[in-house]
Amino acid sequence: MSLSCICNDISDTEKLAKNFAEAVSSSGAFVSMFGDVGAGKTAFSKFVCKYLNVKERVTSPSFVILNEYKSGIIPVYHFDLYRLENEGISTIINELEEYSEGNILTFVEWAQFSQNTLPFDRIELNINYIDENKREFIFNSFGAKSNEILKRLSI
Ligand SMILES: Nc1ncnc2c1ncn2[C@@H]1O[C@H](COP(=O)(O)OP(=O)(O)OP(=O)(O)O)[C@@H](O)[C@H]1O
Ligand SMILES: [Mg+2]
Repeated sequence: MSLSCICNDISDTEKLAKNFAEAVSSSGAFVSMFGDVGAGKTAFSKFVCKYLNVKERVTSPSFVILNEYKSGIIPVYHFDLYRLENEGISTIINELEEYSEGNILTFVEWAQFSQNTLPFDRIELNINYIDENKREFIFNSFGAKSNEILKRLSI
């Protein structure tokens, strides 16, 4: 399933993130995020955390690869693989798969060079920069669990 929308400004992105948080709050999800530097991958994840009642301050995990937030409705794991090379990424694919299972929410920010097909149930989110405030969000689901989430998101 595929869903796309335009967010004209950051408040539209916040509304989209709120709907997304509601859609994943009972099931969890694995979200693989693509988009250039400054597209809004971290911004979107922060808003989703806010609506999952995450109490910790959500920061970009660029320097630590993984941040964990346990205070919200469901646990949130936020990876940023920017600092890994392709080789490094292939070594953690199996570990990532474990983060696609169970009632948890996992965000993975990928550097552009590493866009690759993962072998498990997931949502791929592409964020395209249109202008300073405007972004295009494109969600694609792969697998039964993620299909259900996008169905909930569209109603
Ligand atoms: N509609 C919008 N949606 C999301 N972000 C927006 C929007 N309009 C403006 N912005 C701004 O764009 C920036 C997005 O930065 P962010 O750190 O989320 O990007 P990123 O995709 O995570 O980049 P990086 O690859 O460096 O991690 C923020 O400063 C945010 O306020
Ligand atoms: Mg980021």
